[in-house]
Amino acid sequence: MARIGKDISTAARLLLEGQLVAIPTETVYGLAANALNVAAVSHIFEVKKRPATNPLIVHLASVAQLSDYVASMPDAAWQLIKAFCPGPLTLVLPRTQIVPDIITAGGNTVAIRFPKHPLTRALLRETGVGLAAPSANPYGYISPTNAHHVNRMLGNHIPYILDGGPCTYGIESTIIGFPNDKPTIYRAGSITRRQIEEVIGTVYQYQGHEIHSPGMSAGHYSPTTPLYITTNIQAATADATDGDTGIICHSAYAPNIPQHHQIILSHNADLPTAARNLYAALHEMDHRGYKRILIEQLPTTGVGEALNDRLKRAATPHITTSSHNLPL
Ligand code: TXA
Ligand code: MG
Repeated sequence: MARIGKDISTAARLLLEGQLVAIPTETVYGLAANALNVAAVSHIFEVKKRPATNPLIVHLASVAQLSDYVASMPDAAWQLIKAFCPGPLTLVLPRTQIVPDIITAGGNTVAIRFPKHPLTRALLRETGVGLAAPSANPYGYISPTNAHHVNRMLGNHIPYILDGGPCTYGIESTIIGFPNDKPTIYRAGSITRRQIEEVIGTVYQYQGHEIHSPGMSAGHYSPTTPLYITTNIQAATADATDGDTGIICHSAYAPNIPQHHQIILSHNADLPTAARNLYAALHEMDHRGYKRILIEQLPTTGVGEALNDRLKRAATPHITTSSHNLPL
């Protein structure tokens, strides 16, 4: 198992030696390597079993580092950086030649993010280089939102996990690019489309092929246990009384099921709280060995758009309205 600690100089030393370190961010934990070390970055792909066609985000400490990695910046990108960074926003921008092809999957753009977590900001300052980091989970599985999740999934493959406690947002960053000067959301996330439109006006939703952002493909963010979404938790659980179903509810327990088979995401029906707890609930239910997991569809306002987007990609059939659709 990996060592878990809060020692920034150990983490920085390992990274500069070319090793991998798991890092806390405000969204989810990342699996980091020195972005300029091709061997180290290729090790990320091996450990995650991630296809080489899926590019990585480069994490930076400050805008002073941007010109090393980014060839040109649209005005809208500057406006978004001023409004939201450091924070859970990733910008897809034209790359410089210094950025290794393995990071961009050979493409002309590089994804850049300025994470907000104080430990990771201190680590980025200490190393002085960009850190390439996807979420610290095996490819296709649920992202980690605490150090224990990382250790359970990848602990045998990495020397150190920098422990920054549970992630405050709990869902991956919003990804925005500027193809043909049109601001385009590639992946919904903690920062909502409305928040972005308040700063730069109309933004488009990417409708294209998954190659540009495989995090948008179905079959991502999935537990091993089949996951079903329901718009009517009461009806869907009517027959699910056999103890074989783990149930994740938004704000109130389903009445006909013992509470120890259920997890509530937010007792106050607060969506940011639900976001913070969602992945931990999925990890927990997946490890309890149920035959199936049933989750209540979340409201679609605010960060709910991103949460439902993740659930749809994680789920087996997309929506079930009653227990008749559940393979009980
Ligand atoms: O919140 C986050 O973004 C977390 C933390 C660790 O920063 N990172 C994360 O990374 O979610 P990952 O690799 O799991 O997801 C990044 C997504 C992938 O779907 C990838 O395809 C997309 O970003 N991406 C990376 N570079 C891109 C590029 N140049 N153009 C379009 N999409 C890109
Ligand atoms: Mg990921």
